[in-house]
Amino acid sequence: MTEHLPAIDILSDRDAVASRAAGVIIDGVVSRRVRTLGLATGGTMVQLYARLVAAFRLGEVSFENVTTFNLDDYVGVPSTAPGSFRAFMRRYFIDLVDIDPARAHMPDGMASDIATEAVRYETLIRQTGGIDLQLLGIGSNGHIGFNEPGSDFGSRTREIRLTDETRTANAPFFVQGAEVPHRAVTMGLGTILEANEILLVAMGAHKAEAIAAAISGPISIMCPASALRRHPRVRIICDEAAASQIEGRVASRIRGIS
Ligand code: F6R
Repeated sequence: MTEHLPAIDILSDRDAVASRAAGVIIDGVVSRRVRTLGLATGGTMVQLYARLVAAFRLGEVSFENVTTFNLDDYVGVPSTAPGSFRAFMRRYFIDLVDIDPARAHMPDGMASDIATEAVRYETLIRQTGGIDLQLLGIGSNGHIGFNEPGSDFGSRTREIRLTDETRTANAPFFVQGAEVPHRAVTMGLGTILEANEILLVAMGAHKAEAIAAAISGPISIMCPASALRRHPRVRIICDEAAASQIEGRVASRIRGIS
């Protein structure tokens, strides 16, 4: 199977990363190359959504004609709970721009049957014509979406058990003392790899090991983000801290071009 080296932008700090990543999305939307956008949540995305909202307020971009599909949500967490990804998306993006909320899709972690919900979500993505640009963060264990290590590269939207590492990393989004859910519904790696273009954003030294494994380690289900090397149009935008452990052949190629 062909292996692709993602394009990598290594920038000095978080602000620069958020601005450049937002710029990629804005260019795609303004040029109408991106009509269907795959979205992510998490700390990395807060600054990025702030940039998109700021650009919207300046009249630089409109999301009126954009359809979005979020990667994932927890199972059994109502949208009224602060930790829910629905609440996150409303707080940082959907309620702040001109997107039609009916076209801002999320997998429903409150559905009575998650397997049926997963099929509904996959069908909806397909009927919309697929995702033009998928935005991703990365977990410190290499997860993308909530595809934890061990996830099959061909996996589809499904229920997954979260690792303790992921639950601990996401605890700050929940009210202090509230239990972080053990289960989530996530697009699969196979679903993500069907997007036309992929943009992965990473900030901070705690992501360095995962970024290094994703782009310079073995392509393995133990690092779900390494699946991105099976895709020809992936761009990674990260800060120097997150890029600090990239090694070997890939490191010299990056140094050669940057
Ligand atoms: C969130 C998601 C996750 C996060 C990842 C990084 O929708 O799919 O893969 O992108 O856990 O999260 P932060 O940005 O909080 O470090």
